[in-house]
Amino acid sequence: MSVARLAARRDERPTLMHVVGARPNFVKMAPVVEALERGAAFDQFVVHTGQHYDARMSEDVLADLDFPEPDRFLGVGSGPHGEQTAKVLAGFEQVLFEVQPRAVLVAGDVNSTLACALAASKLGIPVAHLEAGLRSGDWTMPEEINRVLTDRLSEVLLTHSPEALDNLVSEGIDPARVHYVGNTMIDSLRRCEKRARARAAFADFELSAHEYVLVTFHRPGNVDHPLRLDQIVIALIALAAHCPVVFPMHPRTRARLHGNDSLKALEAAGVRCIEPVGYLDFLSLQAGAGAIVTDSGGIQEEASALGVSCFTFRPNTERPVTLTHGTNTLLGDDPMEIAHVRPAPWDPTPSAIPLWDGHAAERVADVLVDRFARERVEEVAL
Ligand code: UD1
Repeated sequence: MSVARLAARRDERPTLMHVVGARPNFVKMAPVVEALERGAAFDQFVVHTGQHYDARMSEDVLADLDFPEPDRFLGVGSGPHGEQTAKVLAGFEQVLFEVQPRAVLVAGDVNSTLACALAASKLGIPVAHLEAGLRSGDWTMPEEINRVLTDRLSEVLLTHSPEALDNLVSEGIDPARVHYVGNTMIDSLRRCEKRARARAAFADFELSAHEYVLVTFHRPGNVDHPLRLDQIVIALIALAAHCPVVFPMHPRTRARLHGNDSLKALEAAGVRCIEPVGYLDFLSLQAGAGAIVTDSGGIQEEASALGVSCFTFRPNTERPVTLTHGTNTLLGDDPMEIAHVRPAPWDPTPSAIPLWDGHAAERVADVLVDRFARERVEEVAL
């Protein structure tokens, strides 16, 4: 009998608490929750911090992923980093007191990730970090601070690319705590790819496959500085003179563009400035694009897995495997580089990235069962 089935025979299974809060978390965690549900070694308890709360940033994405209804919603909303992190910390601590989980699983690098890892570790509850060990070396990014501190607080480090182990070891982390499991974001992608491609969401804009460039910008480093944002807008207007451009806008970006003439100028140039779209529609827009211009982390990975050229408007990336094995190119720091991107009529063929194979969540589940449910399983077996 398998480890997971044996544990399921107990009435009282250990509780594993999952944290989700912002859009990319949902995509990374959905296959893990599903794999653990199949194994039945844990009672799962999902906490949604509410860092993202708009239907298009949260509910729509969760629905596309068949994500189970969260057990608790903290409703922290937006705010300055300190305030948002503090609200998650205080709210999550109360849930920990109440539920007393065996362990907590956090994912990625958003403020909710760090806040929940901190709350749990202060109470002596072990933390497992999914997507551990990524480093951009850029300490001006809030995500880099969240990554380094979350890894330091975590007992189990689940990595998705080979260089993550070196990064962690160089910071003094015991390699015995590091498990190379692969990329659960790609599990979600492979699960939904067929449905997403069949949608051909670009047809809603009267576009054909491969003729347009898909654009996203949301990083504070790009959108919070008016001069920088103006330069990006000028470059996008120049790009739109050559090819159709579709720009699903993060609320942060729309808020920064609103109230001046930039939004109108983009629209006048033909840029399709649309609201954020759900997971399936966005995957569909990515798969149909002739090229993608972005400052996102996850899109570098998804574009690589789909084999679509990705041009990342950043001077660095914490995901170098997408440069060496994927379709990603760093555009650097000059906004006018964006204007030179062109859609390609066919996709490049990326080499496969090791363990980005659609089965990462099963490996995550094995590690978590082994580390946090094995005692009980052995007890049951006696
Ligand atoms: C967060 C993550 C970032 C991730 C991104 C994915 C941190 C530090 N950053 O950035 O790593 O790539 O999510 O989208 O955690 N807003 C809304 N509705 C929402 C959510 C946000 O209107 O549902 C607006 C608010 O004006 C808010 C702003 O967007 O102030 C920023 O939201 P926030 O959660 O602070 O960070 P993101 O930029 O979304």
